[in-house]
Amino acid sequence: MWWKILACVWVVIFGSIVAKASAQPADTIFDEAQVPAYVLPDPLVMEDGRKIESAEDWTTLRRPEILRLFEEHVHGRGPVAPDRIEYTVTSTDTNVLDGMATMKQVTIYVTGKRDGPSIDLLLYIPKTAQKPVPAFLGLNFFGNHTVDASPKIKLSESWMRSSEEKGIVNHQATEASRGTSASRWPVKKIVARGYALATIYYGDIEPDYPEGWQFGIRTAFDTKDKTAGYGPSRWGTIGVWAWGLSRAMDYLEQDGAIDSKRVAVMGHSRLGKTALWAGAQDPRFAIVISNNSGEGGASIIRRRFGEALHHSVTQFPYWYHPRYRDYAKRENALPVDAHMMIALMAPRPVYVASATEDRWADPHGEFLAARHAGPVYHLFGLSGVGVDQMPPPDQSVGDLVGYHVRSGKHDVTDFDWEQYLNFADRHYP
Ligand code: GCU
Repeated sequence: MWWKILACVWVVIFGSIVAKASAQPADTIFDEAQVPAYVLPDPLVMEDGRKIESAEDWTTLRRPEILRLFEEHVHGRGPVAPDRIEYTVTSTDTNVLDGMATMKQVTIYVTGKRDGPSIDLLLYIPKTAQKPVPAFLGLNFFGNHTVDASPKIKLSESWMRSSEEKGIVNHQATEASRGTSASRWPVKKIVARGYALATIYYGDIEPDYPEGWQFGIRTAFDTKDKTAGYGPSRWGTIGVWAWGLSRAMDYLEQDGAIDSKRVAVMGHSRLGKTALWAGAQDPRFAIVISNNSGEGGASIIRRRFGEALHHSVTQFPYWYHPRYRDYAKRENALPVDAHMMIALMAPRPVYVASATEDRWADPHGEFLAARHAGPVYHLFGLSGVGVDQMPPPDQSVGDLVGYHVRSGKHDVTDFDWEQYLNFADRHYP
């Protein structure tokens, strides 16, 4: 296909730029004493200075304002949902994971047109279920076939980022790619706890490189402005991926095996940023989980520790609305910050997880955002993270806002999933 060839050529060039840029920039701060002072915007004060004092005013006045500020200054705005989606169940296997689960594969036609762009969804449903089950939904980095080694899972044909470890050759998955992300998706554990797991490949929605916007689902919506910088300036790539999560949710709402009032959206790293933005925009997500999402996700943007805004918009300008770049080294002028993103989930439960060695993502900044979302939860008579100081490693804290910092590196582990499962158990009576 012509666009795949074009995509490959572009990526060879971009790959070498990223390889040079991926070493941590010399001005990265990893010393608390060097973090410049900042003042967080108050989530409970409107742009015009009015103070928000009730849950109702939060919901009708301040929340929409903050959502709009994130659209205008950070992520841009995507199109509304298509009138209807179409989907095809391409396989159903009632005996997978040693008989514990049914596995379904579904192709979702996100514009409602079968000749339009589509996303492949992989779904595991516990077999013991007598009624619709709650689910976790997450984007994956290298295709649904990386979640488990089963040869029954469709090998993605979409463009992939380079990775020898994941068996990617010329930006395509190979048989060697199967199961290579299994450690991040403990499917048996999830299913054994009575939850379904749904996952989609983020590259089905839009390939992750600056010119990727020309090859993703937005081409079906944007008719003008295709040559301008990063494409139509209305939404950054994180926004496009988040929109894709909502389309997966559209499908889950139609699947009788799923309790669609209990779908948690979960994501790691750039896909954790995406899970937050999806959860903020789409109230159908009952729980929102950010795993090591860092700058542009759960960590305080103003805190210039680890990855700073100017690093992110230099390496990944296309992830955001072009206006976000104006705040490089001017974080204090931004009308929002990460605690307000977390607060957009209120009164729904939200979980933020860090890792001790993931200093690039600023674990302390992630904790602070979780903590400073508290006042909004308090308006609803609910309690947030419940502590003033970061808890010791490997200890989960919080009520409506959960938090832990796991020992170890930037990753998703069984420990992280256990906390998410416990959190969901607690919040789904
Ligand atoms: C880079 C980027 C982070 C991002 C991460 C990832 O490190 O700077 O912001 O979270 O990639 O998604 O893996």
